[in-house]
Amino acid sequence: MALTIGVDIGGTKIAAGVVDPEGRILRQAKRPTPFGDGELLAEAVAELVGELRKEGDGEEVAGIGVGTAGFVDENRSRIVLAGNLGLAGDPVRERIARRLDLPVVVENDANAAAWAEVRFGAGRGCRDAVVVTLGTGVGGAIIMDGELRRGRFGAAGEIGHYRMVPFGRRCACGNQGCWEQYASGRALVAEARDLAAADPDRAARLLELAGGDPGRIEGPEITRAAREGDQGAIDCFATVGAWVGAGLADLAAILDPECFVIGGGVSEAGDLVLAPAREAYARAVTGRATRRLAEVRAAELGSAAGIIGAADLALR
Ligand code: BGC
Ligand code: NA
Ligand code: ZN
Repeated sequence: MALTIGVDIGGTKIAAGVVDPEGRILRQAKRPTPFGDGELLAEAVAELVGELRKEGDGEEVAGIGVGTAGFVDENRSRIVLAGNLGLAGDPVRERIARRLDLPVVVENDANAAAWAEVRFGAGRGCRDAVVVTLGTGVGGAIIMDGELRRGRFGAAGEIGHYRMVPFGRRCACGNQGCWEQYASGRALVAEARDLAAADPDRAARLLELAGGDPGRIEGPEITRAAREGDQGAIDCFATVGAWVGAGLADLAAILDPECFVIGGGVSEAGDLVLAPAREAYARAVTGRATRRLAEVRAAELGSAAGIIGAADLALR
């Protein structure tokens, strides 16, 4: 039985796990993502892998699959640009491989998560799918005719940097108005903090959960308040969901998938974000009166998708 280790490098944390060939995670570990230093990042990955291997005394691991936030080049070895990791032109594969005695495969994090959802999760049986990952940033993956599309230079599916709002909010990629500035976990937090600063009454519960400081409102507080029925928090999800749906409509116009799979941390709030997203999508998509509409599905594998997909790709 070939076990592999999947590593998921996101804008906030690195998660790694030992995965079996059926996509089951046997053990996992995580730590915060270091910012702006490729050597520190590789060191953190190597340490996580070391930890996992030590616990599995004598167990054989065939390879390491790494899914990382950022544009990954066509040779799947360098991070071309990852604003949320503070890296550009970083030889990530080489840095990690140098520290480990195992083959290392690198893939974009959203591509890895999408691969898992299509093989083992919500995208099963769907040959033309667009998988959207709502994390710190917004990631994407395009699967057409059952194959993951990477484009000529590896950067296909970087839908988070689709310029949704010309001259809009600034993005770490250097552009303005990127979709991820409106539809990501970070956008959700910005929305809630804005609400708390502008209208403390409507944000009373959010502020209470954050000890009175708008700057301490994070995703978990927003989800908790919304689940309790707090209208301010529900509105934050509705705003972000509407931006998600607007983007799906544009993606449908370009790619005409059979299904959208929505994953990533924000999607774990379920219908709080998916209901407004579906609504905005149905309201905006071109040809809506007569065309066949792609289904918008919730991802099934949760935060494990990135680990499972990266681990599976390590064998290919
Ligand atoms: C990056 C993508 C990544 C996504 C989710 C975006 O900012 O450009 O490469 O997939 O965030 O982490
Ligand atoms: Na991608
Ligand atoms: Zn951007």
